[in-house]
Amino acid sequence: MELKVLKSSKDIADLVSNEFINLIKEKPNAVIGLATGSTPIETYEAIINKAKKEMIDFSSIQSFNLDEYLNNQDFSQSYRYFMDSHLFDYINIKKENTHFPSEENYKNYDDEIKKAGGIDIQLLGIGANGHIGFNEPGTSFDSKTHITQLKEKTIHDNARFFKDISLVPTSAVSMGINTILNSKRIILIALGKNKAQAIYDTFNKYDVSCPASSLSKHNNVTIYCDEEAASLLKKELVHE
Ligand code: GLP
Repeated sequence: MELKVLKSSKDIADLVSNEFINLIKEKPNAVIGLATGSTPIETYEAIINKAKKEMIDFSSIQSFNLDEYLNNQDFSQSYRYFMDSHLFDYINIKKENTHFPSEENYKNYDDEIKKAGGIDIQLLGIGANGHIGFNEPGTSFDSKTHITQLKEKTIHDNARFFKDISLVPTSAVSMGINTILNSKRIILIALGKNKAQAIYDTFNKYDVSCPASSLSKHNNVTIYCDEEAASLLKKELVHE
């Protein structure tokens, strides 16, 4: 895993958005894997700005999102709503080419990704407990897209987006760890000191207790951190 520590989240968003823009220029029918949460918002803003400036065409792009809540009563907190309002409504991607896992399609989701040609770049955030997508600690590294129960920690962390913690869904459907590892390239972004322990574990374990540590067996992963997220890593690992 390649580690890049940058001073600001804006610098990270700039580099990561460049990768997506360059991919789409080179491969107009690329397949992109997308994440939600507060972490990728700046990257999506940067993609929108560059796409406008450079007239980037997303009309043949397919996207597959990592995860979606189940039994969610607040549509404005659904990941579909998040993606529409933070990215899809501002680029010319076709809505029918934007895929989300659901209770209905999850058994075929891995096959759909394969049929589309496989994910060229998968973007990831990381949970404070090391989860990727909604693959909580304990999830098998061989897992495919599946239904999962959220851990207390995750429900608590995600409560900030809801009016009340009782409204946070307790289950979700998520790409599995194996699904994620089948991507050709993976970019994980971690921001803030709340992620420092998860990033430390990602580099120092290979264990289901830290789902993100599964990434160490993939040969094309870059982890972008700000200084706070990288603060527990040994100095010799960290270079800009
Ligand atoms: C959620 C999502 C993850 C995301 C994580 C971190 O649980 N399912 O895909 O990486 O939150 O979110 P944030 O970026 O808001 O810290």
